[in-house]
Amino acid sequence: MCGIVAYVGPRSCTSLLYQGLRKLEYRGYDSAGLSVLVDGQIEVVRAVGNMDSLEQELKGNGHAEARLGLGHTRWATHGRPSTENAHPHSDCSGKISIVLNGIIENYAGLRKELARQGHQFASETDAEVVAHLIEKHYHGDLLEAVRLTYADIAGHFAFCAIHSSHPEMIAGARKECPLLIGVGDGEIFVASAIPAFLSETRDVVIVGDEELFVATPGDVQILDLEKKRLEREITRVNWDVDAAEKGGYETFMRKEIFEQPDALVDTIAGRLPGGGQVVLEEMLIPDEVLAGIDKVYIVACGTSYHAGMVGRYVLENWARVAVELDIASEFRYREPVLSPATLVVGISQSGETADTLAAMRQARRMDARVLAITNIMGSQATRDANGVIYTRAGLEIGVAATKTHLAQIAAIHLLALKLAQVKGALDVNEIEGIASELKAVPALLRQYLKNESAAHEIAKRYYQQPFFLYLGRGVGLPVCLEGALKLKEISYIPTEAYAAGEMKHGPIALLDKGSPVVVVATDGHVYEKVVSNIEEVRARDAAVIAVATEGNEGIRAYSDDVMYVPATSEMLSPLVSVVPLQLLAYHIAQLKGCNVDQPRNLAKTVTVE
Ligand code: M6R
Repeated sequence: MCGIVAYVGPRSCTSLLYQGLRKLEYRGYDSAGLSVLVDGQIEVVRAVGNMDSLEQELKGNGHAEARLGLGHTRWATHGRPSTENAHPHSDCSGKISIVLNGIIENYAGLRKELARQGHQFASETDAEVVAHLIEKHYHGDLLEAVRLTYADIAGHFAFCAIHSSHPEMIAGARKECPLLIGVGDGEIFVASAIPAFLSETRDVVIVGDEELFVATPGDVQILDLEKKRLEREITRVNWDVDAAEKGGYETFMRKEIFEQPDALVDTIAGRLPGGGQVVLEEMLIPDEVLAGIDKVYIVACGTSYHAGMVGRYVLENWARVAVELDIASEFRYREPVLSPATLVVGISQSGETADTLAAMRQARRMDARVLAITNIMGSQATRDANGVIYTRAGLEIGVAATKTHLAQIAAIHLLALKLAQVKGALDVNEIEGIASELKAVPALLRQYLKNESAAHEIAKRYYQQPFFLYLGRGVGLPVCLEGALKLKEISYIPTEAYAAGEMKHGPIALLDKGSPVVVVATDGHVYEKVVSNIEEVRARDAAVIAVATEGNEGIRAYSDDVMYVPATSEMLSPLVSVVPLQLLAYHIAQLKGCNVDQPRNLAKTVTVE
């Protein structure tokens, strides 16, 4: 899960590559590097750490005359973060340079064989074998060497290569990991994601799975593995460049928390037009097939899994359909019982999470219908599924997912309404009632976000605590799981999240005088049960921080602190109740001086197993 960029064209490219990498830093920031062609020689600059380290290395070393180059920002898989393991990697002669995103699964055997043939390795990485394989296969034709290298390697990857004898050429290949071409005026950009070149061009060509490409300043060719040229249309991307900037907020995460009302508006827009209709154009699964679905199976990882857990309650409640839920990395190695009447829903913000993709592919092999819920157009999940519901949250840069999570929950609400409609589980009036409540949530949230002082004040009181317990029931359970994940990933404070009724079966032993316990206690049919659990917490002298519905003054008697959220119906309540938990985690992490946008050891897109 790294970010790669490449450029060929008439402009000095070092700063273009550097700027591109800055936009891809969310994909990994263990190390970064560039290679550029200068006076017929490939010059490589690499640094351990994030892009600030590379910036230091590049000072006074701008290679202004370079017109061809590669760049890479790394999330370490094979080989620790070090300068030697940073990309780009070179062959023995130093004439070839490569950058790779992904994993070469058979690298150990290849490396052994190449070493036996006399190749000298300079790193511990799997990626370096690609540079040496290209060297081995190169006899004057870079594309052919790339093609033969592709045939030798197994795994999932995207890579780009340059050769000092081809000063105007980038060649590369893709298997499962993303690779996009930006077509400029007499210049070509290549990258793992569009933001890397969005400020330079909006014309994009997608390199498909198991395809090769070769780019020169005025042309890009996409080819199959036999080097047959494939027709590929240029897509114009309408994203706003500013969307990738912080827009006045101190961090991307904060900006994205505050963008949640817009993310909800956009995700719902046009999909609930009235008359009990639910319009999901990209779903592509006919209504009559949906009507016959007897089980929904949700697979996802991390925050997306928590959105899926909301789906379990909502789908059962509204659509009266059986729902199962599993973590994708577990599902893919089980023997799930699926049939053509099962709808498998893969939820992935990035659409590139390896485990979720594998789970979706397994479901396809077992003849289930597969639906992707993702934020990224053209991502692998969209190609592996029968249909898609796009969340329309816009680009999310903060590694901790926030606005995409809310948009995922809204997408699940839409799916549940759609199934309820085709199955006749809800009538027109019921659907319209829910639709108008859902449409009202963004305004409620906008109002709520105008005053976040409660979360900030509570953070100040508790940020030095060594441990937080989160409790919830019903739709409050996924909310508390998500709140606990947010806190641990950005502040590094250990957390546990439990179904409140389970607390007495073990976690209660963790409680001590003053231990902070965050309880999701919004209005709903299990509210009284949650209050009983709060009593159990208080009996151990622990400190209760409740998330409650506005107007519930009674909860103050049971709580040390309360974060109120706007009133909505129970099934919609996660859309509001998760927000104070995002803010609490955010303020605690800020008070602890943590880098909330780039938490240690994490990456935005997890394209490895
Ligand atoms: O791109 P995906 O939604 O598939 O990513 C899944 C998880 O990696 C992701 O949600 C992760 O848990 C985030 N760090 C959460 O903030």
